[in-house]
Amino acid sequence: MDKFVVKGGKKLNGTVSISGAKNATLALMPATLLASGKYELYNTPELRDVVTMSKLLQTMGVTFERKGKTLEVNTFRVNKFEAPYEHVKKMRASIYVLGPLLARYGQAKVSLPGGCAWGPRPVDLHIEGMKKLGAKIELVRGYIHAKAKRLKGARIAFNISSVGATGNILMAAVLAKGMTRLENAAMEPEITNLVEMLIAMGAKIEGIGTTTLEIEGVEELHPANVETIPDRIEAGTMLIAGAMCGGTIRIENVIPEHFSSVTARLEDAGVKLAFSKTSIEVTAPKSIKPVDITTAVYPGFPTDMQAQWISLMTIAKGTSTVTDTIYHDRFAHVPEIARLGANIEMKDNAAIIRGVKKLSGTKVMSTDLRASAALILAALKAEGETEVLRVYHLDRGYETIEKKLSSLGASITRVAGEEF
Ligand code: UD1
Repeated sequence: MDKFVVKGGKKLNGTVSISGAKNATLALMPATLLASGKYELYNTPELRDVVTMSKLLQTMGVTFERKGKTLEVNTFRVNKFEAPYEHVKKMRASIYVLGPLLARYGQAKVSLPGGCAWGPRPVDLHIEGMKKLGAKIELVRGYIHAKAKRLKGARIAFNISSVGATGNILMAAVLAKGMTRLENAAMEPEITNLVEMLIAMGAKIEGIGTTTLEIEGVEELHPANVETIPDRIEAGTMLIAGAMCGGTIRIENVIPEHFSSVTARLEDAGVKLAFSKTSIEVTAPKSIKPVDITTAVYPGFPTDMQAQWISLMTIAKGTSTVTDTIYHDRFAHVPEIARLGANIEMKDNAAIIRGVKKLSGTKVMSTDLRASAALILAALKAEGETEVLRVYHLDRGYETIEKKLSSLGASITRVAGEEF
């Protein structure tokens, strides 16, 4: 397990390019199961989760070749329809193979993902949706066994907006017989990216970018080449790094409207931002104003930015409250950030943060992906040296983060290999 050693207090200046979105790629890759042939997925980030998804799809007969930022995918020889626990336990998004396998091959056996670092994350909406499309589903010894001759279109009104369930059922419905109507569908940009790919493959989908998607099933699809959107969470994380550390940094290859809920709150906090169509320049203010946030589905403030916002608020001039309505228990980072000198009190699903004058370096432990990012941000600001342990979480979702931050002037070094 690697760790990062961060010497805090360095100003950040310069330009950094944002990678392709992890959560988009993890949907686009399994979508290739829907039609045999060759695909080119442009702007695919090199991440541990992408490797995990590749390994999972390889067990089914899919082959991959990476050429720079392009991932070439070949699905000619798909002959297995199972997602084993070994892969699913590493990454929940493995469940995305359920819809495409069921729709195209009439069968799928997918391990239940189990819990995660921030509590139970059920997959009932995925299962109920597939049942509504006519699949026969049994749960046998921790596995979802799904079968269907041909799925049939249906009206599915989600009681909770779910990114994963929307993506999964969408991938099933495109090959179902007849019309499917998804109500209260997730409209996160990563879902829109998936819809664009499916349309390019020949799917008939109306309502792109809205919460109602109407899908007219087709007999078959064909491969298509598609560009992965930029990672709005990496972008938001880099903006907070800029806001916390002083100096001016420019983030490039972004779609600013994908994270306007984050940039608007940053401006409320007194951070200066200059926008172009595909870049944002952030200049750190003298002091950060306290700003409350409450996470919500898109276009609200993303839960995936909640931990990083807490880091920013630890050095604000005053008290702020960060409430997570999507994952009530997603606060494992709080006691770790507190080890750096932050003053944070938990009340149910809210963190009350009383800004402090300074943070001080020490050893801290990553507990999950975004928690790790929050710890790196706090470490960049803290006086002295911080060791951030277990950064394998970070490698799941941030491409070469230490190189990107170093290029901006941060002192951050990866120490490889030992048991930290
Ligand atoms: C996706 C993202 C993750 C992000 C989350 C919320 C990917 C690979 N991951 O996760 O980074 O934090 O969206 O934006 O895209 N729920 C149910 N039953 C279900 C499914 C979900 O009750 O069957 C609940 C969840 O517990 C949660 C809410 O719905 O409270 C939203 O979760 P969901 O959007 O499904 O998250 P994921 O797709 O797993």
